[in-house]
Amino acid sequence: MKALVYHGPGQKAWEDVPDAAITEPTDVVVRVDTTTICGTDLHILQGDVAAVTDGRILGHEAVGTITEVGEAVNGFAVGDRVLVPAITKCGRCGYCQRGMPSHCQTVGGIGWIFGHLIDGTQAESVRVPYADTSLYAVPAGVTNEQAIFLADSLPTGYEVGVLAGKVRPGDTVAVVGTGAVGLSAILTTGLWGASKVIGVDTNKFRLEKALEFGATDVVEVGPGTVADVIALTDGLGVDVAIEAVGYPETLLTAASLVRPGGSIANIGVHGTPVELPMQDMWIQNVTLTMGLVDTVSIPTLLTMVASGRIPAEKMGTHTFTFGQIDQAYDVFKNAAANSALKVVITPA
Ligand SMILES: NC(=O)c1ccc[n+]([C@@H]2O[C@H](COP(=O)([O-])OP(=O)(O)OC[C@H]3O[C@@H](n4cnc5c(N)ncnc54)[C@H](O)[C@@H]3O)[C@@H](O)[C@H]2O)c1
Ligand SMILES: [Zn+2]
Ligand SMILES: [Zn+2]
Repeated sequence: MKALVYHGPGQKAWEDVPDAAITEPTDVVVRVDTTTICGTDLHILQGDVAAVTDGRILGHEAVGTITEVGEAVNGFAVGDRVLVPAITKCGRCGYCQRGMPSHCQTVGGIGWIFGHLIDGTQAESVRVPYADTSLYAVPAGVTNEQAIFLADSLPTGYEVGVLAGKVRPGDTVAVVGTGAVGLSAILTTGLWGASKVIGVDTNKFRLEKALEFGATDVVEVGPGTVADVIALTDGLGVDVAIEAVGYPETLLTAASLVRPGGSIANIGVHGTPVELPMQDMWIQNVTLTMGLVDTVSIPTLLTMVASGRIPAEKMGTHTFTFGQIDQAYDVFKNAAANSALKVVITPA
């Protein structure tokens, strides 16, 4: 089969590799019908993720069809259309039982293993461990082009942003960074009855998308960002500030936007320390949350996509075949210049 193989920083190739095969009785093999690229894949290609070594097949998101089933797998059969999520879970360790499979101890000490600790989904086929507890059947009314975004970005915006920030009916919410993850928070914030959703970004195209995805207001980043957002909240600040970029300045912006008693939900992956003004924050009774997505909201999100409440397909702006995967990476890497959000990649 063919797959996108990592060969060290800046190096990748769509090349021949051994076919994906079952190695444990709890495995299945999935033929990949749709995959996509995540910002994390770009970090890996920059050499930022040391655990990813030469020879690793990239990718941690897929929708596909089961072609082989291990003898201990009960819940899935050959031919089933399934969502392969970013997080793999055993279902039995302490973290899985606490609903926190992001830290599943059995699969690797961390639930994110595809394209990280084991071969990933940017391939014609992928071996999926712990299939019974990790895979989701895709309902008939949900297309591959919708389901693919439930593998990572939608659950991330929803779980690490909206749920962790405890958005409640009537709340005012600011989302700093309206990329795929921030837009996913915007798409799902309305489900909890937010009355005002303010998108904040440096990029005009992303802000247009934010309005299309359900933001009520947008603020382009400039010298007066914080004052502009506060002015939209009767001078009080927002109830929930969601950070979806991953820079010190954007977390500080989110922290400056929140009113006393509110929540700052950090989604961004940070690469450097952040100095928070605790001397001002301690007296504000604010909550700061952060974490790796668990993807446990996928069943809820699948139901909402099937019923038409979440138009997940809007996330895909460009489509490529496996043979064009280099172009797909180029477009995704230069997303702002290409008016791109997420790319959809299919076999042909
Ligand atoms: N916690 C998790 O489990 C988890 C999972 C997936 C992704 N992430 C992280 O979430 C973050 C967002 O991911 P994404 O895929 O949406 O990335 P993205 O690159 O598509 O979006 C980032 C957005 O931030 C905007 N931006 C850049 N600088 C800004 C600034 N100074 N102020 C305001 N906006 C600014 C960009 O224009 C872009 O629209 C990343 O840090 C990613 O690594 C976290
Ligand atoms: Zn990802
Ligand atoms: Zn586990």
